[in-house]
Amino acid sequence: MRTHEAVFSHAVEQLRSARRVVVFTGSGISAESGISTFRDPLHGLWAKFDPAQLATPAAFRKDPALVWGWYEWRRAQVARSVPNAGHRVIAALRQCVPDVVVVTQNVDDLHERAGSEGVIHLHGSLNAARCFACARPWRLDPCDGGEATATHLEPPRCSHCNGRIRPGVVWFGEELPQAPLKDAINAAKACDVLISIGTSGLVYPAAQIPGVAQQQGATVVHINTQPVEGVDDGLLLGTASEWLTRLLSAAFGQSVGH
Ligand code: OAD
Repeated sequence: MRTHEAVFSHAVEQLRSARRVVVFTGSGISAESGISTFRDPLHGLWAKFDPAQLATPAAFRKDPALVWGWYEWRRAQVARSVPNAGHRVIAALRQCVPDVVVVTQNVDDLHERAGSEGVIHLHGSLNAARCFACARPWRLDPCDGGEATATHLEPPRCSHCNGRIRPGVVWFGEELPQAPLKDAINAAKACDVLISIGTSGLVYPAAQIPGVAQQQGATVVHINTQPVEGVDDGLLLGTASEWLTRLLSAAFGQSVGH
């Protein structure tokens, strides 16, 4: 296994000559903005809440107000948060590399608010609700960030069919939206460097993306505060903001993202 220094200097060198870079993110990129990850044993969402009661179509059928209220609480948490240095460095990368594709598993909009464009959302978005019955999109009221805790909230009703409005996120047991997944795989196949940040790599098919890039000969670097399942080389252990700032500064100059 290579040392941090060896992984870091190889990544810097590859980034300098890269024409296509994929940045693949999980909830860890938003942790420094105060948004909970999923699997942290103490503070992760799935340590406090049962995904079977909140993140499946069956859960929504059983108790729509519980599920809608929980996602509205999360939308409020995101509205109260601001992008951190990690999001900003990723957005600044497109000034340094000709083609940058950001692929995220996150349902927040912090990459966009930091300035990244064309972000591929593999698991949907908190801001893209639709009808549970007829799938027509629903325009959500802007969120003022007011909800401090999750409470039961009746979902709005579809103006076309009177069906209940559901959050626009992918739930357990549901397929990922095919177009974003295809675009993400194509970007991974074509890239020179893939940086995977803040993901446990446990949820498929999203978790296959770094492996797709690796199989095509790309340099793959993982940034995580914890060891990552299945990754025995190419890991930079530490926070996203710390390593992204160091990587981009070393590759392209001091001022990237600031
Ligand atoms: P997880 O909670 O599984 O993993 C978050 C990862 O981020 C962990 O490996 C942490 O060690 C790491 N981490 C935490 N803080 C960090 C920081 N400041 N810098 C770098 N890394 C940090 O979240 P995801 O991998 O995103 O799916 O979870 C994948 C999917 O599982 C989510 O998209 C969601 C969830 O169920 C759906 O909702 C469909």
